[in-house]
Amino acid sequence: MNYKQALHNKIFEVISQASQELNMKSYVIGGFVRDLILNRDFKKDIDVVAVGSGIELALKVSQLLPKKPKVQVFKTYGTAMLRFEDTEIEFVGARKESYHFESRNPVVENGTLEDDQNRRDFSINALALSLNKENFGELSDPFNGLEDLKNKIIRTPLDPDITFSDDPLRMLRGIRFANQLGFEIEGNSLNSIIKNAERIKIISGERIVDELNKILSTDKPSIGFLLLFKTGLLDIILPELTALNQVEEIEGHTHKNNFYHTLEVVDNICPNTDDVWLRWSALLHDIGKAPTKRFNKKQGWTFHGHEFLGGKMAKKIFERLHMPLNHKMKFVQKMVMMSSRPIVLSQDTVTDSAVRRLVFDAGEDVENLMTLCEADITTKNPNKFKKYHNNFEIVRKKIVEVEERDQVRNFQPPILGEEIMELFNLKPSKEIGMLKEAIKEAILEGEIPNEYQAAYQFMLKKAAKIGLKINAC
Ligand code: CTP
Repeated sequence: MNYKQALHNKIFEVISQASQELNMKSYVIGGFVRDLILNRDFKKDIDVVAVGSGIELALKVSQLLPKKPKVQVFKTYGTAMLRFEDTEIEFVGARKESYHFESRNPVVENGTLEDDQNRRDFSINALALSLNKENFGELSDPFNGLEDLKNKIIRTPLDPDITFSDDPLRMLRGIRFANQLGFEIEGNSLNSIIKNAERIKIISGERIVDELNKILSTDKPSIGFLLLFKTGLLDIILPELTALNQVEEIEGHTHKNNFYHTLEVVDNICPNTDDVWLRWSALLHDIGKAPTKRFNKKQGWTFHGHEFLGGKMAKKIFERLHMPLNHKMKFVQKMVMMSSRPIVLSQDTVTDSAVRRLVFDAGEDVENLMTLCEADITTKNPNKFKKYHNNFEIVRKKIVEVEERDQVRNFQPPILGEEIMELFNLKPSKEIGMLKEAIKEAILEGEIPNEYQAAYQFMLKKAAKIGLKINAC
């Protein structure tokens, strides 16, 4: 590859010139170089390492750019960032220690390019291209990263115990890269992850979730989750999931292994959604099954109430991992809590009223719920597989029909409480609640359409039955 040509971009020319003016060597390093060689989509972030002060270099680059972009300086880390067009460029001074990947140890010594490469996470991320006039575009590859890229290998530059101890998050990163790029983790590095798994406990939930989200965003997240499982990391990060890895047999009754089932559901959903929160829902949809599992002679294995408990557990996970406790969490919780509804529905004859109730309860999220439940069909029995999918088709058609007729997706009661109070001369009371509930039930059951007149007549009849009289004045 002609790296010089690949760096044919205004920004690299300017960095090169700034370096020369400051008499400071600089290199583009890390993900940009890796992805360039792999011919992956150009990332919108570029890392530059300066043999000297990264902040000084960033300020100089800004001066030389026509628009003089603002430089964001992170003094504690000795880094600086500026935007050029739609790219973020991060500048860092070469270090002897890899403190800038983790803030716990800010005492560092300035180092050479080699020192800096030594302290990076993987050989494929330690590749650097020179931005210096004398050898612009020359590749520096002290750990055979190029070879590892070719052979699809994830390997730490130093003894993996050192690299992972510098920043234990790298164990997760390694698995994420293996999943994203379709690479293998080299034996030593993998064994070191197994050995050091416990150290992930010192990493913040936010950083862990960043990586989990990236794994969930791949085409086949089961690859990453199986690696997390085999290395022992998953047991520490999401024990609720590994608890599903069991198959018990009593009196000839077994149940499926819900851990492997879950991973299949996650993979199944990927072609149908890029929404990482819907993918999280797939990951967590069965977590309530471990604590609710029971056996009785009549029914065999049961998991009564697992959806409800699973929803509560999902919230706890969000809290523990410092994930957003906002509408995203509510969405995942709702999906988990409703995750059996369409399946139950599709196993029977699909009735209008059941569909209307489903749409009423799921509201705007009904499509997402259907996508989740279709992914949940992992039966290996081809007849059942076909039957469930056909029934889901019927459910989807009925959702459209029912919605056209009754608009229950964002249900607004056709008659307001105030009107009922006035009509029957009532103060706020339980009768009003009863009447409103009866109207809603009649609509959901399909007894009356979701229209004012029909609801009004229905309400008069109901009111008469409980002895309410219309206000005469
Ligand atoms: N790096 C590291 N250890 C970390 C994080 C980052 O050694 N814990 C180094 C690697 O050299 C990495 C570079 O910093 O390539 C940039 O990090 P980052 O932007 O997080 O990752 P990328 O490799 O660019 O890849 P991606 O954007 O896909 O995460």
